[in-house]
Amino acid sequence: MKSTTSRLDRFISQNTAFSISDTRRLIAQRRIYLDGDVAHSVQQPVTEFTHVLLDGSCLKNNTPVYIMLNKPKGVVCATKDTSHSTVLDLIQHPQKNELHIAGRLDFNTTGLVLLTNDGAWSRRISLPETKLAKTYEVTLSKPLSSEYVAVFQEGLYFAYENITTQPAVLEILSKYTARLSLTEGKYHQVKRMFGFFQNEVVALHRVSVGHICLDELELGRSRPLTVKEAAVGVIHCGLK
Ligand code: URA
Repeated sequence: MKSTTSRLDRFISQNTAFSISDTRRLIAQRRIYLDGDVAHSVQQPVTEFTHVLLDGSCLKNNTPVYIMLNKPKGVVCATKDTSHSTVLDLIQHPQKNELHIAGRLDFNTTGLVLLTNDGAWSRRISLPETKLAKTYEVTLSKPLSSEYVAVFQEGLYFAYENITTQPAVLEILSKYTARLSLTEGKYHQVKRMFGFFQNEVVALHRVSVGHICLDELELGRSRPLTVKEAAVGVIHCGLK
């Protein structure tokens, strides 16, 4: 997602018949309002969600949208696919065609998928630097042992990317099931981590991202995030 923030004078020149240099005069004449306040500087930022009025006409008024979905198996985490249903097919929202996915799941993985039209928000929650925990319930084909806990905590070397995985927390729930919390999202990361022990993942379900939890949401259903949940993506990352 590229940043869509621009300076007010550039925004005015790109979206009206006025030029960059006209903007100073429009400001002095108090003809521009940003989010309800009269504009005061040509350098004021205009983000993808800034409400911009010029002479009382609205130039831009996007609303940020944040949605959680409980993705079923066999649905593609993409906005388009020629042969399978996509996560967007499961969502009813008037702005659904503006949404992108903040952290994909594999075709057969189930659970929490976040969708938004807010590029800055999805960047924040996806960046490894934010160390936001993504928690999965995992079912394995072979029995687990305490050795896994230590190895995942230490980090595993992924030759393809030439990286060592960040410390991950594994909680063994039963002989074949565990809860795993990661702070990053490398390609097929969970399957590759258990692959180190030649232990195949037979079911994988994401239950939470930071403090955003699926809880009671049924498989295949979606709902908007609450204001508090959407803010968690910001506050928990400490990047406000
Ligand atoms: N790790 C995987 O291997 N698959 C997913 O879908 C998510 C994390």
